[in-house]
Amino acid sequence: MPEIRPLIVGNWKMHGLEASLAEARAVAEGLGDSHLARVGICAPATLLSRLADALRGTGLLVGGEDVHAEPCGAFTGDVSAEMLADAGARLVIVGHSERRAAHGETDEMVAAKARAALRGGLEPIVCVGESRAERDAGRALEVICRQARGSVPPEFAEPGRPFALAYEPIWAIGSGRTPNPEEIGEAHAALRGALVSALGPVAGGAAPILFGGSVTGGNAAEILQVAEVGGALVGGASLRAEDFLPIVRAAPG
Ligand code: PGA
Repeated sequence: MPEIRPLIVGNWKMHGLEASLAEARAVAEGLGDSHLARVGICAPATLLSRLADALRGTGLLVGGEDVHAEPCGAFTGDVSAEMLADAGARLVIVGHSERRAAHGETDEMVAAKARAALRGGLEPIVCVGESRAERDAGRALEVICRQARGSVPPEFAEPGRPFALAYEPIWAIGSGRTPNPEEIGEAHAALRGALVSALGPVAGGAAPILFGGSVTGGNAAEILQVAEVGGALVGGASLRAEDFLPIVRAAPG
């Protein structure tokens, strides 16, 4: 397998006003050149162009949190990949469990969004994750592998299609609870297997698989050293530089 550069991404969700830009700048200043990870912040669409301006020249990537599958059209309230890129985004989260739950997004819809992201020049971060009930029923691996197969478009097997997968157990998000390192390793190994069997060893082996769900400065080092954990998707702990910086610094380089 090729060496994968860690990717640490903040997910601000529906948080962030003008004042938050100072936190993003503080992350960039705090890091300087002293880290080897790729680092990004996914923020509400209203902030993206200001965030891109604030982070210009720092190497930090800006991302959206969702995207419509079409490039333009009569879709009131939606934002396309081309629009996100125009605002300065390079990344976009697709299929976050909060969107799957609250907006009825299916694997098929998520795959269409992932395809749209690449069409618009963005690197999609495709999210999967099981519920607590599915884990308790012993179905976690089956559920997340099925989501990954359905949500990552088969044409991502072709060269030059960068994307990341994010494993976020729904019950770990915002709860302060995370799976133990063995469970994380098992899930990531299963997802790597699913990617390789769907896309082949080159494309399926190159995508970083991020872990998400209550990642903090206190647990990041342990999580990030698990085999096949290629980074983190961080919600609550990405909102303040003092919480996010230790997570980025914990990424192995
Ligand atoms: P959390 O959120 O870090 O606040 O648990 C992670 C996510 O939902 O991406």
